[in-house]
Amino acid sequence: DPVDLAALLELAVTAARAAGQELLQRYGHVEGLATKSTATDPVSDADRASEALLVRMLTQQRPADGLLGEEGASRPSTSGITWVVDPLDGTVNYLYQLDNWAVSVAAQDEAGSVVGVVHDPRRDLTYTAVRGGGARCNGRPLAVNDPVPLDRALLGTGFGYSAERRRRQATVIGGVLPRIRDIRRIGSAALDLCAVAAGTLDAFYEEGIQLWDVAAGGLVATEAGAVVSHLRLTDAPTGYLFAGPALHPDLEAALRAAGS
Ligand code: IPD
Repeated sequence: DPVDLAALLELAVTAARAAGQELLQRYGHVEGLATKSTATDPVSDADRASEALLVRMLTQQRPADGLLGEEGASRPSTSGITWVVDPLDGTVNYLYQLDNWAVSVAAQDEAGSVVGVVHDPRRDLTYTAVRGGGARCNGRPLAVNDPVPLDRALLGTGFGYSAERRRRQATVIGGVLPRIRDIRRIGSAALDLCAVAAGTLDAFYEEGIQLWDVAAGGLVATEAGAVVSHLRLTDAPTGYLFAGPALHPDLEAALRAAGS
């Protein structure tokens, strides 16, 4: 059967918004705090409850689909569709009650994301994208800033939790900073990618990003016109640059020069 993209999108939006409600109810009184990959990589009952809710809703509606979640959800697919979810992207912001955090829900097939939804609960903004169908925020179409000259580019970045990788990525950022307008570190890769789509950032670069960080937001950014490339300027297996088509080659060259 052909996949009903509208149905996938509707389910992704409903699930992401429900998870956002769950997170809002727990905001400001975090319980069950623990650490994951490093002492600075947090997880709490909020992340776990949000993932459990997403898994429940997606499984109920589409039991044959696969699942992959940041907090451990994992199920093989027999339908050809796999959901990739980050139940709380921007966990550190959430802990500190900085409002940049989001729920990220993507549906993927063998070629990548077909549907991507990033929900920003504190601002009640829902970013959506369907492969080949453009990107929207609360229904309004999005388009990246383009053309933007390198010396006026506002670059978003983020840092994973490995100390050695942070050191090396900081060198890349330090090298490119004198050549661009400025840097922002919003604290949620999913929201960084939506910011590129909406034109509130000109580009986004990060090393060591996980699939659940980019599966939804990456589709929102590319459907809004961003070009993506795989940089890998540190030891990380993944390193991505997203930017508008005119800026992308110059920024990629500047990052490579800074990283070599
Ligand atoms: C993190 C955020 C952060 C990015 C990290 C991610 P988490 O996700 O997206 O901005 O720099 O690489 O791990 O841990 O809050 O889900």
